[in-house]
Amino acid sequence: MRKILVTNALPYANGPIHMGHLLGYIQADIWVRAMRAMGHDVTYVCADDAHGTAIMLRAQANGITPEEQIANVQKEHERDFAGFGISFDHYDSTHSKTNQRLAQEIYIKNREAGHIAVRPVSQLFDPEKQMFLSDRFIKGTCPKCEAEDQYGDSCEVCGTTYNAIELINPRSTLSGATPIEKSSDHYFFKLPDFGKYLQTWTRDEGRLPVSIANKLDEWFEAGLNDWDISRDAPYFGFEIPDAPNKYFYVWVDAPIGYMASFENYIKTKRPDLNFDDYWKKDSQNEVYHFIGKDIVYFHALFWPAMLEGANYRTPSGLFVNGFLTVNGQKMSKSRGTFIKAETYLEHLNPEYLRYYFASKLSDKVEDSDLNLDDFTQKVNSDLVGKVVNIASRCAKFINKDFNNTLSATCAEPELVQSFIDAGHSIARAYEAREFSTAIREIMALADKANQYIDEKKPWALAKVEGNEQQVHEVCSVGINLFRQLAIYLAPVLPELATQVQSFLKLEQFDFASRTQLLTQYEIEAFKPLMQRVDKAKVEAMVDASKDSLVTEAPKPVKKVKEKKPVQAAEIINIDDFVKIDLRVAKVLSASTVEGSDKLLQLTLDAGEAEPRNVFSGIRGSYAPEDLQNKLVVLVANLAPRKMRFGISNGMVLCSGNGLIVSPAGDAKPGDKVS
Ligand code: MSP
Ligand code: ZN
Repeated sequence: MRKILVTNALPYANGPIHMGHLLGYIQADIWVRAMRAMGHDVTYVCADDAHGTAIMLRAQANGITPEEQIANVQKEHERDFAGFGISFDHYDSTHSKTNQRLAQEIYIKNREAGHIAVRPVSQLFDPEKQMFLSDRFIKGTCPKCEAEDQYGDSCEVCGTTYNAIELINPRSTLSGATPIEKSSDHYFFKLPDFGKYLQTWTRDEGRLPVSIANKLDEWFEAGLNDWDISRDAPYFGFEIPDAPNKYFYVWVDAPIGYMASFENYIKTKRPDLNFDDYWKKDSQNEVYHFIGKDIVYFHALFWPAMLEGANYRTPSGLFVNGFLTVNGQKMSKSRGTFIKAETYLEHLNPEYLRYYFASKLSDKVEDSDLNLDDFTQKVNSDLVGKVVNIASRCAKFINKDFNNTLSATCAEPELVQSFIDAGHSIARAYEAREFSTAIREIMALADKANQYIDEKKPWALAKVEGNEQQVHEVCSVGINLFRQLAIYLAPVLPELATQVQSFLKLEQFDFASRTQLLTQYEIEAFKPLMQRVDKAKVEAMVDASKDSLVTEAPKPVKKVKEKKPVQAAEIINIDDFVKIDLRVAKVLSASTVEGSDKLLQLTLDAGEAEPRNVFSGIRGSYAPEDLQNKLVVLVANLAPRKMRFGISNGMVLCSGNGLIVSPAGDAKPGDKVS
């Protein structure tokens, strides 16, 4: 039995949990539940990330103390996580005595080892608010293009990055005052001391996704810098020992919050556990952090370095999730796709979302899309149409005609055994965080179970006298198969699993319990297990998400001299653009792709020696024969992408509604497009 400590990124205590957050929390929870179901000893903790300027200012704006602010938000966060079945053993706050003690201890150990430096830093200071201003709280005129109203770090109009001090007419967004330049001592963590150590650490087996380790190599090559870990008062956080009026930057004590939450868990609920067993340097127990890709830098560099410097163990691995878009775009309040956890729960069953995310997640750091139509369709066809359907078709007869009791022997021992055997590879997929693979395998079993029932047709058999035993046997097999599926889906659908467990009166529902067949066995009366996703409710949820717009301050209208780009996408320069090799290509043939209702397979003549194979998600807009001989624009130098169906060698340009961008008539395959 492995002993494992799992954490999720600590959400900031200044805003609500939304769909994007939930991707990572649901991913971790499924893994935790699966590992528990396989018999491992998993402790799962989290906390609110309570410190920082943003939280301090939010409290001021609400007219409450920061302590009240974080207590209110923590209640909401815990409620939302519980609503989605996230099975934390303990939920804490970084604003705790334990965390303060650990943060100070880790800091002092690093200081004693020579990893802390002090030197003055010149920054903009708000003379009215009497505080230093981070870039976010300074606006002014861009020194390059003179666009007004730009933030202190970069210009949204021309893309230049600069120092806040270089802005023309800078002002504090907090008071409107003109900031002055002022110097103060800052404390630095000497990250370069750990350069060699980290370069090896990040390449250790299983430590990081390879794509992330490669990205980190770029940072190592660019060279590591000292990390500024202090903030001057006023700041909501922990004071730095022996440095009056200096506070730890929030990202110092935030990850230490993982340790503190675990320690508080032991203190309040599990005195049998031992802190050192998990955190001392040579600990054999495992520690994993689930985090989003935006916070890798903190977890893969500063965090292991701080731990190493203080002589603690470092995490066994970081599990990194990509970002979530909704309906193909960044979540947006105006489109109603900035969906809060709370709003979702008012309209829909949380297990739908858990299932949908599971069906998309793998161990890769890939972004995922919550497409609400696809969500509705997938949940209805897989969970309601396939899985739950098996039970409702069979239980009816067992309840009505056979005194709630399954047949004395199993009529299809091989079929049931094949379902049991499939558990090995499903368990492996869960453990490897290949949830989409696990789901695919489970759904293939569900198809097999439905096929069996369709062939035997118990409803038809039941109409003819003398067939009772056969009806009994077929339905008993069906219930046994359904039980296997419910066990495999339990990490994803804990609520459904609980219902099935009581329907089947099973004391155990872990993976190992599945091998005992249910024969001559009494079950309960069947109750409907899951409703179909109601499209109207999805729409109501989107509408309700639009309403929450009022809580957001309207964005000031920008007065700009230069023409603004059409899309608020990241601004690139011409050098970035010319890297993209766009070519005219002709569709030689197009066909549908078995197993995909989105893709068409295109064979393209791009003026090269060999035709190209490209998969394109345009099946919704075109029949294959529509595309024959059509000219398209191909991104010709895109890295080949391995898909489930084969390798895609490039991409075809389309507008947002899935229509192909076609060059004018006299273009020839291979012509450059610019
Ligand atoms: N407080 C820090 C984490 C400190 S961990 C010691 C933080 N908080 S957060 O509230 O901004 O984000 C919490 C988690 O949600 C992070 O893992 C973050 O990557 C993730 N996500 C926030 N928005 C997301 C999406 N749109 N999509 C996927 N994950 C996202 O960062
Ligand atoms: Zn500019």
